[in-house]
Amino acid sequence: MASAHLVAVTFALLATAISAHNITDILDGFPEYSLFNSYLSQTKLADEINSRQTLTVLALDNAAMSALAGKKPLSVIKNELEIHVVLDYFDPQKLHQIPDGSTLSTTLYQTTGNAPGNIGFVNITVLQGGKVGFGPAAPGSKLDSTYTKSVKQIPYNISIIQISAPIVVPQIVNAPAPTASGSNITALLEKAGCKTFASLLISSGVIKTYESAIDKGLTVFAPNDEAFKAKGVPDLGKLTNAELVSLLQYHAVPSYTPIGSLKSSKDPISTLATNGAAKYDFTVKTAGDSVTLDTGVGSSRVASTIIDSTPFAIFAVDNVLLPTELFGNSPSSAPAPEPVSAPSPAPVASAPGPAVEASSPLAASPPAPPMDTPEGSPAGAPAAKSENSTSDNAAVHVKAPAMLAVLLLTVSATVISSLFLS
Ligand SMILES: *[C@@H]1O[C@H](CO)[C@@H](O)[C@H](O)[C@H]1NC(C)=O
Ligand SMILES: *[C@@H]1O[C@H](CO)[C@@H](O)[C@H](O)[C@H]1NC(C)=O
Ligand SMILES: *[C@@H]1O[C@H](CO)[C@@H](O)[C@H](O)[C@H]1NC(C)=O
Ligand SMILES: *[C@@H]1O[C@H](CO)[C@@H](O)[C@H](O)[C@H]1NC(C)=O
Ligand SMILES: *[C@@H]1O[C@H](CO)[C@@H](O)[C@H](O)[C@H]1NC(C)=O
Repeated sequence: MASAHLVAVTFALLATAISAHNITDILDGFPEYSLFNSYLSQTKLADEINSRQTLTVLALDNAAMSALAGKKPLSVIKNELEIHVVLDYFDPQKLHQIPDGSTLSTTLYQTTGNAPGNIGFVNITVLQGGKVGFGPAAPGSKLDSTYTKSVKQIPYNISIIQISAPIVVPQIVNAPAPTASGSNITALLEKAGCKTFASLLISSGVIKTYESAIDKGLTVFAPNDEAFKAKGVPDLGKLTNAELVSLLQYHAVPSYTPIGSLKSSKDPISTLATNGAAKYDFTVKTAGDSVTLDTGVGSSRVASTIIDSTPFAIFAVDNVLLPTELFGNSPSSAPAPEPVSAPSPAPVASAPGPAVEASSPLAASPPAPPMDTPEGSPAGAPAAKSENSTSDNAAVHVKAPAMLAVLLLTVSATVISSLFLS
């Protein structure tokens, strides 16, 4: 009994340590909020809510949610919904016992950096007759929305309550929506101090890839100008065109992945450079509010948001992201392409050949597929690390056929001896 209890407690602790709550999962049990739930997922606000503790979600039923959504772009709906996530814990009891009967409470919208003054706050006021009203923080605003009922509480982490109508903040509803397709990526980057990155995107043509990906969802991690001057950054002038293209594609993810989604991601994240065996992915590490991207070669802090307009976001990062496929010595990626590219007996005879030849065809033909770059780049690249990976690759080339030969010998010896024995 006691040990069973201990196990249960341990599991409970583990579960809360991994994620305190899952808003999507909680609301799944309530069909009357299915539209609200769906918009939380579409805007990725669900990830943001799950990555935070101490909040109150002001849920809207399907009728109120469809009134809020109308035909608005998703980026505006996201901003409006952010007003409905209060960064404090209000269960029904606390709501009715607000000191002095009225308070202004911070919402997620206030954390976006887009909120001038206090437009990212909501006014919560106990009205005559005991009702609780909600409205914008601007003085004199009407409190048109009222507390309807409790949906779910996990004290003191998340409280979900229903309110009767959307909280309408005129400045948010009427703000011109920065439409993703109308965004000038290079202008945004230049203004944010990422001129070098912008000019590389233009000179390489990768800007076109970015632009054509925007509408389906795109998240760019833009190194600032300092990052390109930092010590230890490989000489990008020594990369082939194909390698530079892969490097720049590596700085973007083909989906809308705001900070909250980065924080809640556990698996490696693929990029525009990802192509079959060439993984070109990275992992995310979170410590409090700080988010770090780890490429396997190095890591970089996500320093600031340049634009976050569903389904498109650009974040500034402190360092150039160096993929292992180009700059590293990744044990998993190095041997992988070999069995794929050639039938098994071939490497025995030709193994030393391709390793030596690899660099020249790649340099001669810039549009070579990214698949080839892990092989070709180490030989051509100047960094010490790369030389190391070449020798490692060479070791793999030599070792694998040798082991194959031993295996073949063993198998044939066994077959032969068994033939003779029978
Ligand atoms: C949250 O719950 C939904 C629905 O049950 C599930 O699809 C999703 O993977 C969960 N998210 C996390 C981070 O566990
Ligand atoms: C909340 O709004 C009401 C009505 O506009 C107003 O009387 C009250 O002072 C506001 N509360 C706060 C804390 O600003
Ligand atoms: C609430 O969050 C805290 C961390 O802030 C965590 O320790 C606690 O277990 C959570 N409570 C529940 C019931 O999930
Ligand atoms: C985008 O901005 C850049 C730099 O400000 C400018 O040179 C370019 O003409 C703009 N492109 C479009 C399509 O407006
Ligand atoms: C290769 O790596 C080893 C250990 O990681 C290191 O000691 C050695 O100096 C490296 N060699 C080169 C050429 O970088």
